[in-house]
Amino acid sequence: MASKFRAPVLAVFSGSARQGSVNTKLAKAAERLADSGMGATTKFLDLEQYQLPLYDPNLEATHGMPESALALKADLAKADGWIIASPEYNGFVPPLLLNAVTWASRGDPPDAGMYATFQRKAAICLAASPGAMGGMRSLVPSRQLFTNLGVHVLPESVAIGGAFQAFDESTGDLVDPKQHAMLKMAVQALVYHTHDTANRQATCDIIQEHLKTTVGEYGSISVPNQNV
Ligand SMILES: Cc1cc2nc3c(=O)[nH]c(=O)nc-3n(C[C@H](O)[C@H](O)[C@H](O)COP(=O)(O)O)c2cc1C
Repeated sequence: MASKFRAPVLAVFSGSARQGSVNTKLAKAAERLADSGMGATTKFLDLEQYQLPLYDPNLEATHGMPESALALKADLAKADGWIIASPEYNGFVPPLLLNAVTWASRGDPPDAGMYATFQRKAAICLAASPGAMGGMRSLVPSRQLFTNLGVHVLPESVAIGGAFQAFDESTGDLVDPKQHAMLKMAVQALVYHTHDTANRQATCDIIQEHLKTTVGEYGSISVPNQNV
């Protein structure tokens, strides 16, 4: 019998478009873990490819949302959860990521509610840096940013220090087994979480069927909003 459950869909993105970016390496290492063996379906979103203009309220007021921003919003909305690996710039979130998030926070249809792209998504925030701290300071503002927008940011964050030496050149995976295990735990937590949220209605349906056969009609169990 075909399963009533579907695989969670994860969008994976990096806050750096730099050639050889260690955060892109980290994002792709996390993506491999999620879709090889954990059962998630993943899509890598290259933030630079959207070619977003710098957010400008005058541009928005005169021209509306750029097509590129609408495309980004649509790609983010399709996923149940996000894996975000981002560099630390001056202890903060870098402009590429902040600009993308700023555009995605705009242009929701009136009936969709504020921050519709973000509400009740789940995410893990990762960082990598050649420095010893691994970009750890930026995890505080990036977690706060996504939380402000309604994202369930899971407690599992990973910061990879000494990142220019941290990845295996042939596999792309983290060389240090402890770092690899930490990343795996974080990705696993996101896959579990999004498996639940992606399948809430299916779970309700199964319980309903079970109750019908055990205690007869039991009212109705449903999840009004699939994203809840
Ligand atoms: C403007 C700027 C600010 C930076 N600030 C920090 C910082 O606060 N902490 C840190 O660990 N590295 C900092 N770096 C160094 C980055 O961690 C390093 O360039 C890293 O390789 C960027 O990530 P990427 O390889 O994914 O592009 C900064 C780099 C730039 C260009």
